[in-house]
Amino acid sequence: MNPASIPSTTGHECRVVGSHAELRAAIQAWRAAKQTIGFVPTMGALHAGHLSLVDAARAECDRVVVSIFVNPTQFGPNEDFERYPRNLQADVALLAPRGAELVFAPQPAEIYPPGHATMVEVSGVANPWEGAFRPGHFRGVATVVLKLFNMVAPDVAFFGQKDFQQSLVVRRLVADLNVPVVVRVCPTMREADGLAMSSRTAYLSTEDRRRGLVLSRSLKLATELFAAGERDAHQIMARMRELFVATPGVTIDYLSLADGDTLAEVDRATANTVALIAARVGNVRLIDNCL
Ligand code: PAJ
Repeated sequence: MNPASIPSTTGHECRVVGSHAELRAAIQAWRAAKQTIGFVPTMGALHAGHLSLVDAARAECDRVVVSIFVNPTQFGPNEDFERYPRNLQADVALLAPRGAELVFAPQPAEIYPPGHATMVEVSGVANPWEGAFRPGHFRGVATVVLKLFNMVAPDVAFFGQKDFQQSLVVRRLVADLNVPVVVRVCPTMREADGLAMSSRTAYLSTEDRRRGLVLSRSLKLATELFAAGERDAHQIMARMRELFVATPGVTIDYLSLADGDTLAEVDRATANTVALIAARVGNVRLIDNCL
């Protein structure tokens, strides 16, 4: 079936557009009818995590717009931009039954035409952890998110807690640049065994996938220790690291207990502490977190 016209469960068509002009035309009619617009930005290779954001948008807004754009500016020179999984047809087939009405799937030149020279730099929460290990990553994220917000002009935008630091960067951007959009952050969707769903788990061999479970297992341990009354953050981090030592083939980029607002590492764990982990399994990089 032509992906440009797959019917959705809401009785609306799921339209796929590639240009800002078509996007604007479609949205203008909804705006004129005073309908609210929910927006889910993605890079495609959609899984149940992404679809949970579409469901949240569907539940809250009259219209749901999803963008699918593998954003070149947020990938480092040695990262997986070229091999990032792309399958628009499969993605649209997943989105239509969830009630997404409009999919914006632009080519890079539509977003970054020749001469494009403006980038958005968030400091503070963008600097540690992912920001330190992936220089320029959040500059690319902030730039594309602001551009997409300007193009879609949504009332509400939906992000996953899976990328906890990204959600803080987006909140900061929206507050600092007075962007009139409400940001919602939705829970991390996991496989039955605990692995956080990610487009990058498709790269993992069976053996590496099993190794990758150490991320969610160590977060579970942290939660259990906290529930049992442990408040010494260094003690909790040490116990989490022990699990990684026992799992050969997994290299930690960072593992930290940090303040849920500032991301500064903490000495004492509280209800507002986030446990953040990034680790490499073979050449696949996984991140996970829990509050
Ligand atoms: P992407 O990795 O495709 O993720 C799109 C959205 O889905 C993000 O908000 C992410 O946090 C959320 N998500 C991913 N895995 C999830 C899971 N297991 N459970 C719940 N939500 C999950 O994040 C990006 O794309 C890009 O950086 C983007 C914001 C689109 C800018 O290019």
